[in-house]
Amino acid sequence: MRISVIGCGYLGAVHAASMAKLGHEVVALDVDPDKIGRLAAGDAPFFEPGLPETLAEALASGRIEFTTDPSRVAGARVHFLAVGTPQGPSGAADLTYVDAAVTGLLPHLAPGDLVVGKSTVPVGTAARLAERVRAVQPEATLVWNPEFLREGFAVQDTITPDRFVYGVPAGEAGQRAVAVLDEVYARALAAGIPRLVVDLPTSELVKISANAFLATKISFINAMAEIAEVAGADVTALADAIGHDDRIGRKFLNAGLGFGGGCLPKDIRAFQARADELGVGQSLAFLGEVDAINLRRRAHVVTLAEELLGGSVAGRRIAVLGLAFKPNSDDVRDSPALDIAARLVELGATVAAHDPAAIGTARRLRPELEYADRAEDALAGADAVLVLTEWAAYRSLDPQAVAGLAAGRIVLDGRNCLDRDAWTAAGFTYRGMGR
Ligand code: UDX
Repeated sequence: MRISVIGCGYLGAVHAASMAKLGHEVVALDVDPDKIGRLAAGDAPFFEPGLPETLAEALASGRIEFTTDPSRVAGARVHFLAVGTPQGPSGAADLTYVDAAVTGLLPHLAPGDLVVGKSTVPVGTAARLAERVRAVQPEATLVWNPEFLREGFAVQDTITPDRFVYGVPAGEAGQRAVAVLDEVYARALAAGIPRLVVDLPTSELVKISANAFLATKISFINAMAEIAEVAGADVTALADAIGHDDRIGRKFLNAGLGFGGGCLPKDIRAFQARADELGVGQSLAFLGEVDAINLRRRAHVVTLAEELLGGSVAGRRIAVLGLAFKPNSDDVRDSPALDIAARLVELGATVAAHDPAAIGTARRLRPELEYADRAEDALAGADAVLVLTEWAAYRSLDPQAVAGLAAGRIVLDGRNCLDRDAWTAAGFTYRGMGR
């Protein structure tokens, strides 16, 4: 099928390459010529395992074209909207890019075309955009098909997601849209991946409520970490024990620095802002608490570092291992790790930071930090070691070897990912989160 993908950021670039891999003819459009140039040359503009290979395969097949020319989308039967919805100044989602994508698409829509929204939008947006489409091309249909991809697993989550959700209008147009989307995703559907057909507002809410739930789960366990710390309990053991109840489940119960990234923080704020607009702000008031618990984690790590270093970090040398908001990513958007590193510098510490993938992205945002290309260089002479992103390379660090490099014997495990006994045996004062 001939498909267009509008927006080549995280979501769009992965979606476009994955659709070509599935055998579709793809035109991928973005306003940024640099991004398009890199993608056309097979150079993934961000770190994402599996994307370089998928992109290379798509380009070699001749089934993908990257362009900045909006008219190239004409002739595609399905147009995916995959632009960003960043946080606006009030906390609400900024829909500028979504509206601009639709404005650019409208002149090229033909009867029978399907416009498929994938971006995370405030509930009600799809109905409004459907109206805009109908006004210009009454025989085209707009549907919503939210994306649930996780960074680090984006290709896999696009090709074989947990589920497909189609938000479609009632009646014949909706049924036709379901048939077309079934054709797009035929291979995954044949493999038995569930597909749910719902109305437009439900599809918008599915996405944002899934992220709100995940954020709530993380803040729940971080609240338990706060209690465990003063009660002398261990939140990791607690999570293991409650996680055995399969109504609760162990996943997303890792206490630590809390959540960051390009989705969860902005999505809970946008959801609250939308609920306020709809006059049901009270229903999501708890998300304000989820946000507050999450942000407290960062301040707490800084306080712990001060305590461990005898009351102040000023003039001390601190090795920060991990800058990305999670492992297997170079993304530092709203990253707790980068935030903490910057706060320590503000308090007068010398921070030597390392990350296996995110030094480049971190340097752009925080040029004031000292970056080390090798973990060993960050560790050399450090008074304290802070592990802030749970990369496999840090989990498997040999504490004896670290002891040979660092000046001090203090380790702060911000993600509860180290072997406490091994570090203690190597002479370190170990502090975890909520243990
Ligand atoms: C998230 C959702 O998981 C995904 O479904 C949605 O489509 C986009 O947003 P992503 O932002 O890639 O995906 O990251 P995710 O794996 O959800 O992690 C988010 C943050 O939560 C990270 O900072 C991570 O370190 C943190 N986290 C996760 C915890 O602190 N504890 C946990 O137990 C799990």
